[in-house]
Amino acid sequence: MSFEITKELTKNPKTKPDSSNLVFGKHFTDHMFIMDYETGKGWHSPRIVPYQPILLDPAAKVFHYGQTIFEGLKAFRKADGTVVTFRPNKNFERLNRSNERLSIPAIDEKLALEALRELLLIDQDWVPSEEGTSLYIRPFVIATESALGVNPSEKYMFMIIMSPVGSYYAEGINPVKIFVESKYVRAVRGGVGNAKTAGNYAASLKAQEEAHEQGYSQVLWLDGVHLKYIEEVGSMNIFFRIDGKVVTPALNGSILDGITRNSIIQLLKHWGWTVEERQISIDELVEAQKSDKLEEIFGTGTAAVISPVGEISYAGEKFTIRDGSTGELSAKLYDTLTGIQRGALEDPFGWVVEI
Ligand code: COI
Repeated sequence: MSFEITKELTKNPKTKPDSSNLVFGKHFTDHMFIMDYETGKGWHSPRIVPYQPILLDPAAKVFHYGQTIFEGLKAFRKADGTVVTFRPNKNFERLNRSNERLSIPAIDEKLALEALRELLLIDQDWVPSEEGTSLYIRPFVIATESALGVNPSEKYMFMIIMSPVGSYYAEGINPVKIFVESKYVRAVRGGVGNAKTAGNYAASLKAQEEAHEQGYSQVLWLDGVHLKYIEEVGSMNIFFRIDGKVVTPALNGSILDGITRNSIIQLLKHWGWTVEERQISIDELVEAQKSDKLEEIFGTGTAAVISPVGEISYAGEKFTIRDGSTGELSAKLYDTLTGIQRGALEDPFGWVVEI
């Protein structure tokens, strides 16, 4: 299939933010990618234009029924100055799985990859080079038809925007504190938990706000049926090192199929670790902690990278993991993953893609 992406370059390039002090997702590059969809016409008019607000009818379906999905991936600057992305094909595969679940028409993954490559070429000066920084890439689709009937939109926009970022958490790579949520749930069996869609995040805000009030950065979600089995943290998947093995909740339809999660599982297996993807209950975790078998907890995500967990709170009890410090496996995974991403370490899996 051939496609031509038209380009209009900005006449007013923005001043770039200080890359030694980047806040997650606050600054955006000079350009963005847009493509439209209309029933009967399909996806059309792929274009790169200056970053700018978009005009939408107040009746656009995305505002009322949340028909929208998004992705998150990163570009890195290697020591030799070249710009690379990390497993971008996986993000566009997942984007289409989310599209399918939200009744949004599929997007040609080759076109999406080419759009990203061309956008990165144009805005490559925005990729920061400091340790711990990257260019966060946010592809997303919104339903734009103006109509209030509850049915799939006849019109959509697919866009890619990009933002130079540092750490996602204020703690940086220091351990975060996590609150095990047993009042609200994030997703239920058969719902949209494994789709990257706005509603999952909107539904998490109340719990996150309440956890923040008690001094916790994030919420650890339990399953929506029994409030018993561990699922994920709102912005990352979760791993436990218990008695010499690594355990992570199995993908069950309500957990996000994280690309960092998948990479960490491959890396651990490559190093000879046993990784169990299975149901793990909060009771098993508490029991492992009480019998000194819980060696480490860490989260994984594109934005969060590897985020060690130093404390969890469950049912009124606080558990300090290890002595609250970063575990050696979490530190090794962080160093290895970021080393591969920045080209400082060999990439035995072929994950890194030059633009
Ligand atoms: C990501 O890690 O890319 C995410 O989507 C998490 C987030 C909502 C910031």
